[in-house]
Formats: sequence, C-alpha cells, structure tokens
Amino acid sequence: MITQATIQQILSRIDIIDVVGSFVKLKKRGTNYLGLCPFHNEKTPSFTVSPNKEIYKCFGCGKSGNTISFVMEHEKYSYVEALKWLAGRYNVEVEETEVSAEVKAQQQVADSLYILNGFAQKYFSEVLLNDEEGQDIAFSYLKERGFNEAIIEKFHLGYCKESRNAFVTEALSKQYNRELLVKSGLVALRNEELVDNYRGRIIFPIHNTTGKVIGFGARIIKKNDRAPKYINTPENEIYIKSRILYGMFFARQVIDKFEECLLVEGYTDVISLHQAGIENVVASGGTSLTTEQIRLVRKYTNNLTIIYDGDAAGIKAALRGLDMALEEGLNVKLVLIPDKEDPDSYVNKVGAEAFRQFVAENKKDFIIFQLEVALKDAGTDSQKKAAVVNQMAETLSRINKAEDFTRQQDYIRQCSELLQIEESGFTNLVNKFIREKVNKLESKQFSEQAYSHNEMPPPMDFDGSASDEGFQLLLKDELQERAVVRALIEFGSMQWDDNNKVADHIFSECVEDDLFDNKKLLEVINTYKLWYDAGLEPTAKNFFYHENQELSAVVVSLLEFPYELSDKWKDKFEMAVSSREESYKQEVISTLGYLKLRKIKRMIDENQKDLGVPHSPEEQLNLLATHKALKDMERELLRHLGTVIVR
Ligand code: CTP
Ligand code: MN
Repeated sequence: MITQATIQQILSRIDIIDVVGSFVKLKKRGTNYLGLCPFHNEKTPSFTVSPNKEIYKCFGCGKSGNTISFVMEHEKYSYVEALKWLAGRYNVEVEETEVSAEVKAQQQVADSLYILNGFAQKYFSEVLLNDEEGQDIAFSYLKERGFNEAIIEKFHLGYCKESRNAFVTEALSKQYNRELLVKSGLVALRNEELVDNYRGRIIFPIHNTTGKVIGFGARIIKKNDRAPKYINTPENEIYIKSRILYGMFFARQVIDKFEECLLVEGYTDVISLHQAGIENVVASGGTSLTTEQIRLVRKYTNNLTIIYDGDAAGIKAALRGLDMALEEGLNVKLVLIPDKEDPDSYVNKVGAEAFRQFVAENKKDFIIFQLEVALKDAGTDSQKKAAVVNQMAETLSRINKAEDFTRQQDYIRQCSELLQIEESGFTNLVNKFIREKVNKLESKQFSEQAYSHNEMPPPMDFDGSASDEGFQLLLKDELQERAVVRALIEFGSMQWDDNNKVADHIFSECVEDDLFDNKKLLEVINTYKLWYDAGLEPTAKNFFYHENQELSAVVVSLLEFPYELSDKWKDKFEMAVSSREESYKQEVISTLGYLKLRKIKRMIDENQKDLGVPHSPEEQLNLLATHKALKDMERELLRHLGTVIVR
C-alpha cells in the first residue's frame, strides 16, 4: 500500500490542467478549459475541465471524474498504478507501507504462482513446437483444425506430454516446491506421488490484462468419454474465475478502438477469430457472465456483442448474463451462429469476410430479441402474452441509471409496439417494477440494520399503485438525498451555531439511516463522519482522491450538476443560485426538512394502509392517534419549510 503521506504529497502537486493537457489539447474558455473528448469521437469540443473543482466532464459522452480517474480511464490503470504514474510525473518518491504478515504471505504465493505459470507456459510451448510427441500429436492436431503457427505462438499454446510426470520432473529439478505445484493445478497428488495433471492435452494459457499467465485450460486431444474435455486451473490466489475473460489481454486495445467487445464461449473461438483478423473478442468459458466480468468489459466499452451457438443451450446461457449487463448499463447485442456451428467452426467454414458480414447483418438488440423469442413462444395464448408483458417490464426496469433514461424510453416505445399495447400503460408498469425494487432495497437495508438476527420481514411497502407521479416523486426524492449530502460536503465545516458546525447538525438530524434510500450516498455520509470524527475537515477533494473510486464518482456527480440542481431548488424554495454560500443554513434546513417530510409521508401512508384493515377498537384508536401525530409533524415541518409541497 502507498502511504498516506505519499498520497498527500502527490495530491498537493497534481494539476488537472497539466495532467489532462498532456493527453488532450485544451483551450481556455472562461474559468474552464475545453477540448476534444479523448473518450469518444467528436469533431466539436465538449470535454470540459474545471481547474477550480479539479474535475472534468464531457458533455458529449458523459464521462466525468477527477485527475486520478482520468489517468485510470485514459491509461487503463488501477488506482495504485495511476498514483504511481502521477508520482513519477511530479517527482514524488513513493513510500509503501509495511503490509500485514498475512497479506505479505499471500502476495508471496501469488508472485510464486506467476513465476511458476510463466515457467510452465514456456515449457509446454517448447514441447509443442520442438518435441517429437508434441509435433506428432498436438501440433498436427492444431494444424488440422486450421490454426497457423503465428497464432499458436501468439496465444502461447502448448502441449503436455502423455508421460506421467514429464513436467513435474522438470519443475522439481528447477526447485519449484511441491505445495505450489499442486496449488497451481499443473500437478496432482495421486497416492503420495506427484503426477502431471494435463497429460496428453493441448494447453491454453490464460493471461490477465497485463499479460501475465494466471492459469490454463487443457483440452483433451484423443477421444475419451470418461475424461473431461477441458481441465481448468483451480481457484487460487491469482486464478479467480469470476473475474477472468479469456483473451482480454490480446483484445483490450482493439475493443477500445472499435468500441465493441465480442463475447464467445470457448478458447478456440477466440483464437480462430483472431486468426481471421477479428481481434476484439473474449471468451467467458461457457458459463454465464458474472458482474465482475461485465465490469471488466465496461472498462473498455459499453457495447457487448454476444456471439453464441444457435442451439437452445447457447441461447439460454446468453440470456442468463443479460439482466446484470443491463444493470451495469451495457448495450447488449446478440448474434446466433446457425447450423450447430460455433464461431470457431463457422469462421473456418465461411471465411473471415463472410463471418464479419454475417455478424453485421444478424446483430440483434438483446432486449428486442428476448421479446421476439418470448412472443413467438406465447403465440395466441393471451395469458402467456400477459406474462411476457410483465417479464419485459421487469427487464426494462433494470435499466435504472439516470443517464440511461432515454434508452429506457426508447425500449418502452419499441416494446409496446411489438406487444401491441398502449405505451403509457406499459410505462406505468415499468415504473411499478422500479418502485418495487426501491422498496425491496429499502426493506433489505432496513432488515439488515434492525433485524439482522431476526426472521421478521419488515413491512416497508408504500403506495402500491402504478402511477407516473409516484415515479417522479422517487426521482425527486433522490435529488433531496443528494442535496443533503452535497450540503454536508460543501458546508460541513462552516459554523451552524455557537457550539456546532454544520456537519454536527446534519449528523444529529440524520441519525436514522433509513432517511436515505441510496446506499452510496449513505456511504459518503458515513465516510465523511469517519474523517470528521478523526478531526479532519473533509472537502470534496478528500472524496475525489478516495481509494474507492465509486465513492469518488458519486461525489463528483453531486458537484458537477450545480445548475440543474439549483434550478429545481430555486423553484421549490425560491432561493437564488448565487446566494447559496450566504444562505447555507437555509439550504441545510430545507434539504433536511424535505427528507424528513418524505419519511413522515411514508409513515402516514403505512399507517393509513393499516387503518384500512379491521382492528380492535383500541388498536383503531391508537392508529388514529398515530395518524394525527404524524399529520401534526408534517404540518409543522411544512410550516418550517415555508412551502407547500405536492402530496
Ligand atoms: N469448458 C470447460 N470444461 C468443459 C467444457 C467446456 O471449461 N468440460 C469451457 C471451455 O472454456 C471451452 C468452453 O467452455 O472453451 C466452450 O466449450 P466447448 O464449446 O465444448 O469447447 P470449444 O472451446 O469449442 O472447444 P473445441 O472447439 O475444441 O471443441
Ligand atoms: Mn469449438
């Protein structure tokens, strides 16, 4: 870990204009700088850098962040790599902290595994290319399948001989220890004896995104129904299957360039497509996509094209990854390869050009595809069709990032057309699912906090009707939450009264965590509190350079739309934008007030629902008393806010 002192030093020397300016030609415009966005193709500049706020934002593609996230994004660095790069640029000597013995031991195992895998890869390649058995059995097999020597070498393919222990013997003679050999999966322990695990198999090394070998897939050559077709590296310190996409190391720059990532199932699919000159391709290894894999793709592009076998299993596997991909904001397209072929066999059959053309012509939007399949399935059965409508609404409700709103609208329009139903009704249904999810999340948080050791499900459902208005209110609610957090960050260290800072006041008012729906915002508050309690006076900057870049992104997003938020504010509370600094107390009161009001409204709704079912007279009285108390609180709050707010 890099020490805090080093990080502080780097931060104090960072100049966002200097850093961004070394990649993008910037021109001064007022207080900001303007240039052509490096993250998407544009002819007129919409990439803006604010030296005061130390953030950038592209009004074309929406990318935004701080100096560190810029370096991470532009150079595809991790947080630590970006810090080290900046340290080098500003001549800061990097000091790293001592890590715990446990972490150190783990790092050592990882390092040893990298070295062993590197050794094994070279050994297997050598056998494939220069050994007689390798040539006769493996190389000829690969040739037969159409792989040329250049591609075999590029992907570092290899061969493990049929002998019980050819590799083990070699590795032991090079002093690799037995425990490590087993851990790597290259070797297995059979009756106290170490034997080669991949005997008689083609070796496909698996690289991480920096090109180091982290594991292997080993494919059987001879037909054998009793042995598995592939043996893969077991999970260990460096091989974590859920995070790996085969071929990413060779594909990442091309993915970036073409703004598209092709996803296939198998190792051989990746290699064949590369050989055909289609290089922006990775493989999932035949399992459905994990969130981590989707995030790995999203580091390079938002466009994922899945190319699977056209058989039912292929389609099913593809569909499973969809929901998560949607939630992560990916545009997913699907191409099904016909006639029981897979991408490898198909490209070999029809050639590179025809394959490209086939993909271009048969690329289907994944959501529309799903709908068409389901509709065909339902036929004229109206009950089945109703289920399809519901299913589609649920799917679309997963597109819930604010920036994807237009995309969602587009889908709603297209889907209602295909389903032959009213667009407005369908919109309501989608909104209903969105709200249900918010409620679920809410009650989940609620139960995690209050009922973590208890089975009782908390009733947090409010307003079950499906109305647009409800949806709008939700959006507004999020704005209120954001406004409170923004006030905390901007005014936290200013004086509230003689004894307290604004932060003290906000914390005392926000002791109940369930005031916030958005977990990320809550995390920002808690992080602020941690720092504040430790004697710091946190500012937005502290968050910008927080190791957790997700947190940093949240704070950036809070600050980067000041006008959008302030305009709404102005309408609501009749406050001038420019007077925010002077009237910060009023702003704090308003934002907190609105949030509390929302909570009270929810309680009233709940109470009212309760009132709707039969009770004993005593209970009924209690509920009525509660209702009155809540209404009083609501009125008092509204009076305080000096505004009458809808609903
Ligand atoms: N796979 C696996 N274990 C198996 C079968 C498959 O891990 N027993 C994974 C491999 O990553 C494989 C992918 O699933 O690449 C797709 O499987 P399949 O289509 O059967 O293999 P191909 O890669 O197409 O291999 P080949 O073309 O040589 O048949
Ligand atoms: Mn295949």
